[in-house]
Amino acid sequence: MQSRYYTIHEHPQGLPSRELFALEQQELPALAEGEVRVRNTWLSVDPYMRGRMDGVTTYIEPFTLGAPLEGAATGEVMESRDARFSPGDKVRHMAGWRDVAQLPADQVEPLPEFDVPEQAYLGVLGMPGTTAWVGLNVIADMQPGDNVLVSAASGAVGSLAVQLAKAQGGTVVGIAGDQHKLDWLESKGVKAVSYKGKNAAELSAALKDACPEGFDVYYENVGGDCLEAALNNLRVGARIAVCGMIARYNDDAPAAGPGNLAMLLVRRARMQGFIVFDHWQHHADFLKEFGPRVASGEIDYRETVEEGLERLPDAFLALFSGANQGKMLVKL
Ligand SMILES: NC(=O)c1ccc[n+]([C@@H]2O[C@H](COP(=O)([O-])OP(=O)(O)OC[C@H]3O[C@@H](n4cnc5c(N)ncnc54)[C@H](OP(=O)(O)O)[C@@H]3O)[C@@H](O)[C@H]2O)c1
Repeated sequence: MQSRYYTIHEHPQGLPSRELFALEQQELPALAEGEVRVRNTWLSVDPYMRGRMDGVTTYIEPFTLGAPLEGAATGEVMESRDARFSPGDKVRHMAGWRDVAQLPADQVEPLPEFDVPEQAYLGVLGMPGTTAWVGLNVIADMQPGDNVLVSAASGAVGSLAVQLAKAQGGTVVGIAGDQHKLDWLESKGVKAVSYKGKNAAELSAALKDACPEGFDVYYENVGGDCLEAALNNLRVGARIAVCGMIARYNDDAPAAGPGNLAMLLVRRARMQGFIVFDHWQHHADFLKEFGPRVASGEIDYRETVEEGLERLPDAFLALFSGANQGKMLVKL
């Protein structure tokens, strides 16, 4: 059995080029006791993967040059030498970026059984959805009536974050790029602000127009000018959940920071970084609460889908130009 997979042979500088990603093939060994073989059907690409390409350990090990890249995937068990799985079972695991995965059964989990398409477990009911919930409820301690600002607000994490924030009853403002993303945000009752063509001062003024009383919570996905503009619009006692700073992931030199971090002091605000896997104990409760709400259509979620293993690097790179709305996925 052959497995086709993507790897990289060098660490990228700045935004990776398409040529960085090499599609290679290997003959899989016979299945060992305790292993399963999975035909992947959906592959996830996520911004954090850029950090794993730098060869440096952060909160997660870097990718190994020449080895298959990793990432979340769903698929169907082809063959199993573990009593917990049988051929035909639908599963989720981290051996993505390839068409056929072979791995220990204890690294594979069965898909939950809500009435949703299986790729929802890579997005709204998977790691990105859980991240939105943890960031707002555990890190930012969101309260009823809070005014909430979300950046990258129409993405995988942001699009659930704005809907959870909206249900609390306060004003919710979402920052996004293109017009169709702003339209979707407005359709959810979210005040939409574009960052495109604006410097930090102009973005700050646009946020003030959208919510003159200021924000109790800032859900940070972008960094840079978005953070600078958000800091100018905090209420006293504001909390900032630092989920990600995608505007910085391709920097090859230290960037000038927001020059107004002192606003944290002036507004007695709290800013806290978090990694969703430190809070994974909430995932089961999150699924129990949101599985039925996603299945009923109460929670809206968007997907941008590329088809075929060959398009996988293009899907990943699209995250940095904003070409995705909602969860970026590759269908095999
Ligand atoms: N802490 C954790 O455990 C954790 C877990 C998951 C994700 N994250 C972080 O959460 C953030 C969102 O992740 P996601 O998976 O939901 O991705 P996503 O939002 O679905 O996709 C990335 C989006 O970021 C926006 N973007 C890209 N470059 C930008 C720039 N230079 N300036 C402004 N906006 C830019 C684009 O939307 P626009 O069209 O609006 O520009 C793009 O569509 C990322 O920072 C990610 O690293 C953190």
